[in-house]
Amino acid sequence: MPASSQTRASALRELRDRASVCTRCPKLAATRTQVVFGSGPPDADLMFVGEAPGATEDRDGIPFVGAAGRLLDKLLAEIGLTRDDVAVVNILKCRPPDNRNPLAGEIENCQEYLFGQLELMQPTVVCTLGNFATRLLRGSTEGITKVHGHPEVRVIGPRAVRLYPLFHPAAALYTPSNVELLRADMARIPELLALGAPEQPVPATEPEPSVAAELPVPAGGAVPASVDDRQLGLF
Ligand code: URA
Repeated sequence: MPASSQTRASALRELRDRASVCTRCPKLAATRTQVVFGSGPPDADLMFVGEAPGATEDRDGIPFVGAAGRLLDKLLAEIGLTRDDVAVVNILKCRPPDNRNPLAGEIENCQEYLFGQLELMQPTVVCTLGNFATRLLRGSTEGITKVHGHPEVRVIGPRAVRLYPLFHPAAALYTPSNVELLRADMARIPELLALGAPEQPVPATEPEPSVAAELPVPAGGAVPASVDDRQLGLF
């Protein structure tokens, strides 16, 4: 692994370790079983951003493993991808009680982790699943019904990505016609991946302190993970 990817990988583990003991949202910290940081290869070109863990994800520590996740897996298979090929994260890393919507304060508290993941993992295509992720990463109140299936280049933090809003698989489960829309939108993902990374913004002469820069980089190469890595695919 080139030095910079190694640095990013260790910074990502550092970020995960911090998230795993986060208590910024006291209610969520008290009611969660565990923090669900993300799954998939840390250097995946394609990242999905969902809303928040549900009961199954909270139990297993992996995003999108319930009914919505099974639909996501099925639609991924239809475009020749598996969960091992893609990174999957959520806006909130903790389950909101009774699966209620994320609160604005919770989204704000948790943003450091999501934006850190985006900066450190450097995906080229970022699929936002549903309204919450789409509004947050587009920085706009436009709803998913209007913007789904419209890829656009957006600068998020220090990097430009191909942002691609999609219906949330859970919403599609409730409304079968949305499954077809989600399927049709997902069918365009290979085409977006084939475009490669968009042109990147020219870094400022005096770089802004970034998540990667703030995190300590341990000396001496590969860094052993300090939290439980037994669940395959967790980064
Ligand atoms: N819905 C989400 O948004 N995320 C999950 O991890 C599961 C369901």
